[in-house]
Amino acid sequence: MEGLRGKVAIVTGAGSGIGQGIAKRLGGEGVKVIVDYVGSAAGAEETQRAIQQAGGESEIVLADITRCDDMRKLVDAAWTKFGSADILVNNAGMEHKAAFWDTQEADYDRIMNVNLRGPFFLTQQFVRRLRSAKRTGHIVNISSVHEDMAFPGFSTYCCSKGGLRMLMRDLAVELGPLGITVNNVAPGAIATPINTALLEDKPKLDALLKNIPLGRMGTPEDVAGLVAFLVSDAAAYVTGATFVMDGGLMRSYHEQ
Ligand code: BGC
Repeated sequence: MEGLRGKVAIVTGAGSGIGQGIAKRLGGEGVKVIVDYVGSAAGAEETQRAIQQAGGESEIVLADITRCDDMRKLVDAAWTKFGSADILVNNAGMEHKAAFWDTQEADYDRIMNVNLRGPFFLTQQFVRRLRSAKRTGHIVNISSVHEDMAFPGFSTYCCSKGGLRMLMRDLAVELGPLGITVNNVAPGAIATPINTALLEDKPKLDALLKNIPLGRMGTPEDVAGLVAFLVSDAAAYVTGATFVMDGGLMRSYHEQ
């Protein structure tokens, strides 16, 4: 895709799932990728190997996006190693299932810290560096259909993704004059580790697939294609929008 070669991207949660798919795709397009991970180093190494095989460059950084020091470290790594950070993909996320009345304070804090506070302050670090270097850039948040759609049993997740939607809208306006675009990609059911429980529960999975007009779960590669477009020159005039990628799930309603 046009305008990607030689750019530098930070992808959070790039050791598995959607983040891994995005990092591989951008790496394959000639983007230098900071592969952020927390947890399994093996996943991050797999991402790096795939990028190398595609002829790309990357750097693995262990950084926990719930810690401001780590966020600084991530942005510094991009500037030090590759001389810039033009693209930020706020992908890292988690969900927690609990009835609203049983939700614990610690679970609320954990989900909001990873899914909303992390993108907020990491984006701040990313923008501060771009602004002082007088450079433009692209931010893509991996949100969810649940930035808009109810998900009973996942109130913390919905709050965090709804917040991410408004953060994107606000920043599109605040950062537009700096030449920085901000958009959300809202995936539906994508086959990744966040969905392990669902993938292992055949009746639940079948019920979900019935609600997806395209008849299958999405893949990290599906999401990665849209992200690559949004950070390319082809999307230079696109900001402030959510792009749903859900196989039609959000539009689907059936009477039994
Ligand atoms: C959630 C999945 C869920 C999907 C569709 C995603 O944001 O992470 O657990 O299956 O939305 O509801």
